[in-house]
Amino acid sequence: MRGPAGRRAAGRRIEVDLAERSYTVHIGVDTLAAAGPEIARRTRAGLAVVVSVPGVARRYAGPLERSLRGAGLRTARLVVPDGDRSKRLAVVARLYGRLIALGADRSSAIVALGGGVVGDLGGFTAATFLRGIPFVQVPTTLLAMIDASVGGKVGVNLPQGKNLVGAFHQPRLVWIDAATLRTLPARERSAGFAEMVKAAALWDAAFFARLERDAEALAALDASRLVPALECAVAIKAEIVARDEREGGLRMLLNLGHTLAHAVEKLSGYRRVLHGEAVAMGMVYAARRSEELGFAAAGTAARIEALLRRFALPTELPRFPREAYLGALRVDKKRSGGRIRYVVLRGIGRAETVPLTAAEILPPGRVGRARPRARKGR
Ligand SMILES: NC(=O)c1ccc[n+]([C@@H]2O[C@H](COP(=O)([O-])OP(=O)(O)OC[C@H]3O[C@@H](n4cnc5c(N)ncnc54)[C@H](O)[C@@H]3O)[C@@H](O)[C@H]2O)c1
Ligand SMILES: [Zn+2]
Repeated sequence: MRGPAGRRAAGRRIEVDLAERSYTVHIGVDTLAAAGPEIARRTRAGLAVVVSVPGVARRYAGPLERSLRGAGLRTARLVVPDGDRSKRLAVVARLYGRLIALGADRSSAIVALGGGVVGDLGGFTAATFLRGIPFVQVPTTLLAMIDASVGGKVGVNLPQGKNLVGAFHQPRLVWIDAATLRTLPARERSAGFAEMVKAAALWDAAFFARLERDAEALAALDASRLVPALECAVAIKAEIVARDEREGGLRMLLNLGHTLAHAVEKLSGYRRVLHGEAVAMGMVYAARRSEELGFAAAGTAARIEALLRRFALPTELPRFPREAYLGALRVDKKRSGGRIRYVVLRGIGRAETVPLTAAEILPPGRVGRARPRARKGR
């Protein structure tokens, strides 16, 4: 990938239209060193506190901070341990303490540099410190670029479950440098592409067809294909969020594949499978179920499955017993009155929610075996 690291960052801009909370998503290549002026302009901060994890900070915090200082801001760096375990209140409390020690005030900004973990944690800290300070997302995973960094959902986990505490706090700016994806492990990249396929499958048939045309080039991070694809995926999320900032209905469509994905993650103990991998499995299942229930034409699921495979994603649910899946579905957050708002496809590019019971989502014979087979590998 090649791009100008010069004074003015070339790139594409997508506006997230939320009245006085509107913001821009900037997408470019090799643009980290040019983020400073735009962050300064959007936050009007005197101090920028970069929140990150060790592997990301080591690679990318330097150029970003130099650019911030070049734009007249003071900078500080707060590094938390890698992994979802950092998304918890004890870590937030530690960050509050560090912010106080730095003399941070209402005019200070948090700049979250990293994947969805850093975005959710840094964003939640920004949402709550002094009742809310400005916040900028600099996502460095594909998942964070196209999903977690846009939409304003921030939060942390509780011992009882994931993402149970949070807030809506829109960033002032999302700054995507696609070049950072070059160092992202292959499996994490693939997981991000699952969310890209999801966005296309639920909203935009032409985008889906482009993914079918370009899958290998995208997987190889060919910038000429990747940047427009990022733009498309972000635009879909931006449009849905703009029309439904607080998850009234439309935003539910983004949960395509996620009902089963959450069950898979829970049953696997959140370690064996990455979120995007679970989404890939859940999405193929949802597409097959959509065909069976008469919502989608035959062949819909096969197209999704074939595309996901080209991104090296798994497409079959792990063989846990059906009862285990049903148990996991019954505690779904999106449930009301015993029914789950399950996202089905009407075809490629068109989704809707239908209220279904866990047993209707998962009729007998779809998953598991009488005796669950031990899972191979790892
Ligand atoms: N707020 C939302 O709307 C939203 C949406 C989806 C997911 N999420 C949350 O996002 C989190 C998952 O995000 P994620 O998949 O980005 O995970 P992550 O933040 O843990 O990043 C995955 C791994 O990649 C590493 N990494 C990040 N960028 C890198 C780079 N450029 N080069 C090398 N390594 C890099 C990280 O250190 C980490 O080990 C979950 O906690 C999930 O709940 C939030
Ligand atoms: Zn997801």
